[in-house]
Amino acid sequence: MCGIVGYVGDRTALPFLIDGLKKLEYRGYDSAGVAMVDGNSALVEKCEGRIQALEERLLHNHIEGKVGIGHTRWATHGKPSDTNAHPHTDCAGEIAVVHNGIIENYARIREFLQKRGHVFRSETDTEVMPHLIEHYYEGNLEKAVQRAAKDLHGSYAMAVVSTKEPDKIVAVRNLSPLIVGLGQGENYLASDIPALLNHTRETIVLEDGEMAVITRDSVRVLSLSGEEREKNTFFVPWDPVQAERGGYPHFMLKEIHEQPGALSETLRGRLSPDGRVVLTEMTMTEAEALAINRVFLVACGTAFHAGMVGKYFIERIVGIPAEVDLASEFRYRNPVITPGSLLVVVSQSGETADTLAALREGKARGCRVIAITNVVGSSVAREADDVIYTWAGPEIAVASTKAYTTQVEALSLLALYIAQMRGHMDIYQLNEYVMHLRMLPRKAQETLERCAPVQELARELAAHDDVFFIGRGVDYASALEGQLKLKEISYIHAEAYAAGELKHGTLALITENVPVIALATQKEVLEKMISNITEVRARGARVIIITADGLEGLDEYSSSIIRVPDTHPLLMPVLTAIPQQLLAYYAAVYRGCDVDKPRNLAKSVTVE
Ligand code: G6P
Repeated sequence: MCGIVGYVGDRTALPFLIDGLKKLEYRGYDSAGVAMVDGNSALVEKCEGRIQALEERLLHNHIEGKVGIGHTRWATHGKPSDTNAHPHTDCAGEIAVVHNGIIENYARIREFLQKRGHVFRSETDTEVMPHLIEHYYEGNLEKAVQRAAKDLHGSYAMAVVSTKEPDKIVAVRNLSPLIVGLGQGENYLASDIPALLNHTRETIVLEDGEMAVITRDSVRVLSLSGEEREKNTFFVPWDPVQAERGGYPHFMLKEIHEQPGALSETLRGRLSPDGRVVLTEMTMTEAEALAINRVFLVACGTAFHAGMVGKYFIERIVGIPAEVDLASEFRYRNPVITPGSLLVVVSQSGETADTLAALREGKARGCRVIAITNVVGSSVAREADDVIYTWAGPEIAVASTKAYTTQVEALSLLALYIAQMRGHMDIYQLNEYVMHLRMLPRKAQETLERCAPVQELARELAAHDDVFFIGRGVDYASALEGQLKLKEISYIHAEAYAAGELKHGTLALITENVPVIALATQKEVLEKMISNITEVRARGARVIIITADGLEGLDEYSSSIIRVPDTHPLLMPVLTAIPQQLLAYYAAVYRGCDVDKPRNLAKSVTVE
């Protein structure tokens, strides 16, 4: 949530700040602002709305400086408004701060500072930061920031500039990501990698409790008690071109079409010629694999739906009980974690606050942790015992597409790998799965090619206010993902149900012409699915069936039917996701929605 950028160098900071903010707009986009240090004052321009609105403001009020910070906001404290937009400044207008996260004790600090004469202008928690730094400033910005950081409770990343020390940015990371980009005669700061890609791929990733003091020629990293830290440089594996729209009208459409490539990259080097799974990155020993007696899969949003599919992989392929939990629930429900519990966290960004907290909770209780993430060097990647990367490349659209399908694929690799280590599968079964995995990228491509009729179906859906999704087994997980996609970008009310559950209440909502999207790819429950489809048709529903080649007898029950190529039943969610993503995409386009930046949402949710 929210994006931070910073620049220190020989050039004017504004072009980097604006370009970086545009790259981070997916993190939050209800207001934006920049501050630059020039002479005696911190020049601030900020406003409610998108980066474009900020650019228009800057046309009339051009500000310049070679040191600057910028912010794109996702409101937590105080509504989106010009006043609540970041940067926030101290009383003298000399210290400017941008912040991601939440300061939990801001009310107390605000009261403390108000009693000492500080005047607050906004409703934000952030505004306490510049005033607190002003309060502690005694000629050394670094020390004042350190002192202030000690008083702040909560998750935050902050960047500070001051006219009193106009050659630097001081930044602190505490539970919210920050990366320093290294340039020639200039250095950068960002909360997320895409902001840096056009400028550098050499970075320093800050850890929680670290501060960076960034000048034109140097980057010093210190603990909050002031000890210097040695940091390794981290080379970002993403290509800048991957973070551009490349001729597509929206990132989401581009990312949907990138799925065959992303699936194939995620498999690269991981399937051996003799049909086994090779995960060289895993440090888990055979003894550790044999000791696993229960698996918790924990994630948020779309990644949670991948986790639901993962539960089927673990139970069917490895034969171990698996539970799937929303990260925000896991840490507070006091799960029964016993020796032999394995925690698998799934997160595209690797920075989701709830997922990270669940990971830490699991580790504290003695779980071995495996992370499945798309961002190399992200927090979950660094804190887990093992990491399996999804090589989907940067995902910019808020609605997750290629990250989801590669997460499902990576979870299947993990399950096969553990089963292989435990000797749970015979080589023929293993080879069969591996064969299906090998063919998956090509089948994803074929699915995309078959999806032309989806656009017309989406036009029809766009006219409805309610849509239902039903499925059984992994198709239920797919239905949940399908409804999330539709509602998050098209704002059509959508709900997914386990098909057998409809008759226990929701059937009351099925009336004439209500669209029901029925996922029916699981042969073993096909007859049951047909019964459930018949139930909704009997109430007048307009049924769109998504099924697979080779499953016959469904046509007569549907108004429209979409067929994906045949694959292993457990891998169906990868293919059935594609027409559902396109349905949601085109429905959103027909309704005139901002597809890549849906209202009220953000890509990376770094607050709890
Ligand atoms: C946000 C995004 C979703 C994403 C979820 C989890 O809500 O809008 O698309 O699925 O966070 O994100 P993660 O990065 O942990 O997968």
